[in-house]
Amino acid sequence: MSGQVLEMTSEQAVDANFDLTGWSRVRQLRVEQALSTWVAPDAPAGLGDAMRYAVLDGGKRLRPLLVLAASEAVAPLDTAVLRPLHDDAAFRARQDKAALRAACAVELIHAYSLVHDDMPCMDNDVLRRGKPTVHVQFGEARALLAGDALQALAFELLTPNDDSVSPGVQAQLCCLLARAAGSAGMAGGQAIDLASVGVKLSETQLREMHRLKTGALLQGSVMMGAACGAAAPAALLALSTYGAAIGLAFQVVDDILDVTADSVTLGKTAGKDAEQDKPTYVSLLGLARSQAYAQELLAQANEALQASGLHDTRALHALADMVVNRKN
Ligand code: IPE
Ligand code: IPE
Ligand code: MG
Ligand code: MG
Ligand code: MG
Repeated sequence: MSGQVLEMTSEQAVDANFDLTGWSRVRQLRVEQALSTWVAPDAPAGLGDAMRYAVLDGGKRLRPLLVLAASEAVAPLDTAVLRPLHDDAAFRARQDKAALRAACAVELIHAYSLVHDDMPCMDNDVLRRGKPTVHVQFGEARALLAGDALQALAFELLTPNDDSVSPGVQAQLCCLLARAAGSAGMAGGQAIDLASVGVKLSETQLREMHRLKTGALLQGSVMMGAACGAAAPAALLALSTYGAAIGLAFQVVDDILDVTADSVTLGKTAGKDAEQDKPTYVSLLGLARSQAYAQELLAQANEALQASGLHDTRALHALADMVVNRKN
């Protein structure tokens, strides 16, 4: 079974009849509306304006889409497990509410990480999502605080004080997000990144840095989506493998695009990595081997999905393909 899948090309793994653009559009709209409601402008002294500027009107919203796709993929198992307690429609509605909160929470952490990543003490970037970066627009102190407040808001979203998300699911979502964002995830990876300027890392060290700074939050997105329902242990393991593969692939492709794409297409300054002497997959392996590695990771992600036992993984396959074959 797995041998067969490994031989598939990425195009074969993606269902040609699956309309990722249409699937995404509906969900992105829900996420945009929810973010606009939850990131209110009323934080004091202009903080709300900086928070909204950082989060709204931009970005691919890949992480929220991963949360929603994973939640939808585990839904049938959940209804089977919980049938004695809930009818299908009621359970799905409840799961959807949790997944929307999880999707927005992950995007808030991601947006905060970008605000801080762009600051002069880190990558010192002036362009993000096609606009001046938050510190350029609002000053460094407000950018720092906007990042802090977005991080706090993410956890507030995961802990509503009505009964829309069960306490057990709330705890699991908080735990997954904290791990993905903290010192064993994004923040730790960013620390390695900053300590590695001008340093030649081994492939193992580079992989570890990319897994932490970027991979952890993408993998966390998948696992948070799964945590909104219930899945068999084998399915969870497969989703974790899928998330790890696309998480790493995402940063490999980010390294590639930094070299091959232009700033207008990216909405951020191209060519920054070489300029700042950052170790990247392109600097270590060259362009062709980096591209081949991204495709290898895509094959690993597809293989994990095929072995997951989940009955509808079309969106997850299509998102993996998008991660690796994207242009921005
Ligand atoms: C950029 O992430 C930062 C990295 C982790 C490489 P995205 O490419 O997902 O940025 P947006 O959200 O689309 O702006
Ligand atoms: C940043 O990696 C990853 C984050 C955790 C924000 P990069 O520094 O390569 O991201 P870009 O290229 O600025 O988006
Ligand atoms: Mg950086
Ligand atoms: Mg950067
Ligand atoms: Mg980059």
